[in-house]
Order: sequence, then C-alpha cells, then structure tokens
Amino acid sequence: MQSPRHLVSIDDLSLDEIRSLFEHADHFAADPRGFADTCRGMITASLFYEASTRTRLSFESAMLRLGGGILTAAEMRTSSASKGESLADTVRVVGGGYADAIVLRHSSEGAAQLASEFSPVPVINAGDGAHEHPTQTLCDLYNLHVERGHIDGLEVVLAGDLKYSRTVHSFAYALARFNANIICVPQPGFEMPKYVLQRLSDEFGVEPLRADVRKLGDLAGSSDAVYLTPQKPHQLSLFTDLSDWQVQSVDAVYMTRPQTERFGEGDLSDTQYMRLEKRSMDADSLRDAVVMHPLPRRDEIDSDIDNDPRSIYFKQAARGVPIRMALLATLLGKIQLAGKPPKVQRQVWPVVAGSNPCPNPSCISRTEPRHVTPKFTLRSRTPLVAHCAYCSRELVFRFVGCSTSKHYHAPDSRELQKVLPDHLVFLPDEGSAQALAYSKAHA
Ligand code: NCD
Repeated sequence: MQSPRHLVSIDDLSLDEIRSLFEHADHFAADPRGFADTCRGMITASLFYEASTRTRLSFESAMLRLGGGILTAAEMRTSSASKGESLADTVRVVGGGYADAIVLRHSSEGAAQLASEFSPVPVINAGDGAHEHPTQTLCDLYNLHVERGHIDGLEVVLAGDLKYSRTVHSFAYALARFNANIICVPQPGFEMPKYVLQRLSDEFGVEPLRADVRKLGDLAGSSDAVYLTPQKPHQLSLFTDLSDWQVQSVDAVYMTRPQTERFGEGDLSDTQYMRLEKRSMDADSLRDAVVMHPLPRRDEIDSDIDNDPRSIYFKQAARGVPIRMALLATLLGKIQLAGKPPKVQRQVWPVVAGSNPCPNPSCISRTEPRHVTPKFTLRSRTPLVAHCAYCSRELVFRFVGCSTSKHYHAPDSRELQKVLPDHLVFLPDEGSAQALAYSKAHA
C-alpha cells in the first residue's frame, strides 16, 4: 500500500502546489455550496488535545461543504488519553477504519510528525505546541495572495510573541520561500527563537539585518527589530547601510497574542504588551498595509480599527474554509494539484545510543518516550550540528561517538566527517562516553 501524504510542516508543500491550492480555493470560495459531492462518503477526524475555535471549525466546515462527514474529538484530554493511551496508539485506531484523514492539534512539539509515522491515513498538523501550524500559514498566504495578488517581494511585519507563536514560525518559513521580506518586531523577551532563525538561514539563505523601524510609529516600541531577507546579498548591496535597514513601506502587519499557555519560568514580561491602535495605523509606512491576526486576539489590536478597511483579520479567518477545502480534497485524493511535491526530502536518522539529546522538555520525544525513537537531521558536519527531527531544536551534546569504532570526538573534529550518520552517537559528557565503553579518539 502506498504511504499516505501528510502535512506536518509547511515545507511539505512545494510553492507550485501552494499556488495550485490557491486556485482551487478561489473556486471553492466562489461557490461554497457547489462542491458537495467532492468528498462524499469520506470522513475526517478532528483530534484536538488543545483548545481551538477557528482551526477545528473551519476544517469541519470545509469537510461538510465537500460532502464528507466528520468525527470530532475536541476534548482529547477527556478521551482515553486520560487513561494513558499514547498518541501513537490513538492515531492507529482512528486511522484504522474510523476516518480517512486525521486533523491533529497537540501541545507537544513534533506530535504531528510522530502521528504521521504511525497513522495509516493522512495526518494534518493543526498546531503542534510552539512549533508549526502549516494550515494557518496556508490561510495566511492565501490572504496575501487575495489581497495583494502576489507574495514575492512583499514586506511583512511579524509582531508580538514571536517566541511561542507557531503560526509565526510556519509563516516565516513560507514567506522566505516565496521571497518575501520579514520585519520581526517582537515583544521584548519574545524574539524569534534561534532554531527558527537558523533554519531560515540554512534552508532559505535568509540573513538577519538590524531593522530601523522608527517609521513604524507605535509598533516600533521594540528596539530588537530584525529584518529578514531571502534576497541575495548582491541585491542588498545596492543599498547603503546594511546594518540598519530602513523600513519604508509595509504590505502587511501580522499581529499575534501573547501565548501565555506556553510561558515558562522567566517569560513573564513586566513591560506592557504591544498594541495596534488607531493612531498606530497613521504611520506613513502603514498607509497601504493590511492588518492580519490568526486570532484569537486579546488586547493587542484595539477594536477601534476593526472597521478600518485595512483590517482583514475576520476575512482572513473566513478564507480558512476554502483553503482547507482545497487541502482536504487534495490529501483525500479528490483533486490533483498542478506542480510537483517538494524535491528534497529531509534526511532523518535514529539516535542509536545514549540518552535523548533533544533539550526541549515539550518535544514529543520527551513527552511520549515509549513510542518515540529520537531522530535527528544534520545541519553541518564540521562542527557537527544536528537538530531534533521532531521539534527542530538543536541537539545538545559535548562529544560525538562512532558506534563501530567506539571512539568519541569533540563536535568540531574533522575525523567525524568519516563517520556515517547511522553510526553517530551523541554524548552529553565524557562520563557518559566512558559508561557506554567509548574511548577518546587520538587527534
Ligand atoms: C493560533 C494557534 O492556535 O496557534 N490560532 C489559530 O489557529 N487561529 C494562534 C493563537 O492561538 O494565538
């Protein structure tokens, strides 16, 4: 049997496929009641281990509009999960005859990746902890496409809690691929995480520059603004001062709420959270900007600007239905996208020995260790840098062993180049190396 196609990360779709999803979404949006035979007889299951309004209801509305049926487990904490059932077992059961696709929201980073390894039917990531939210990104991109007609070259401000907002992380990866520029205006203390910046730089060639955001009026409360551009350095060199990028004109402001449910120790900021108000929108640079928000909002967008024609957050939520119709119909095999799937599949290897080197306590490899063999991807060989294949965080280790020679090395040793990824062993310290009977390699 062919293995099903999942949507775990926004990177699982090529740009051509995303453009093709937009086209299908346009048809669905133009005639929402005209496609009620598309998925007749099929069922999706919503497995939600975390709260949701828009994502779950728009998915369910999308499936019903396509003529399919839905199973809703909106309170998974009261399901057999409360009896200790694992996510891996749950998706095997639900995908083994109950439903033709699973829409999953979970509080652990990497949960959708794990589910995709066990589910016989497509798994759609509807948010995994603070990691990714690819279908919100499809919705956000679709909104830019409808409002602006293109994404390439747009100047997009990402504002608020950039540390824990999964919508921001997936959106940033996609914007970079579409060659849009990103202006990060974080709430102080809630900057874009290093692992996200690293991936933007490694995979999409995005280099951060310091941004001068004085022209953003009120929004410029943060002094840590960063300009992320996927454009090639030779294009940038046309401009004079690269270290202080002047933000002239913005196409979209994407505001986010503080993700208080994910705050850890030390995250409680005593500075007031940023707020977009009527007078903020008077800034010259925002004259033509649309205001977006994945919602729910708290106080970060004043309701005074709800009627401003630039505020599109409610339209944005409504457009979540046609774009999810397009995605469901695709993954259920009812429509074919123009364009090929992404070429490069990330290479992943299991961690063969030692303890789990993933430092993230809310990674699924830590919250569900019974079913997960920690896995890694390699970013660089010298020095050896590896990321957790579930939550994307950089792995923490001081030494690396070779499981065949039983020697261990410092991560910057050139000798490690010769070790096959299958044989790499991540060692937190020399004590654990010796406990596993590894001896120090001679330089
Ligand atoms: C977002 C989420 O769940 O990450 N909501 C959504 O899906 N529209 C944003 C949020 O909760 O702040």
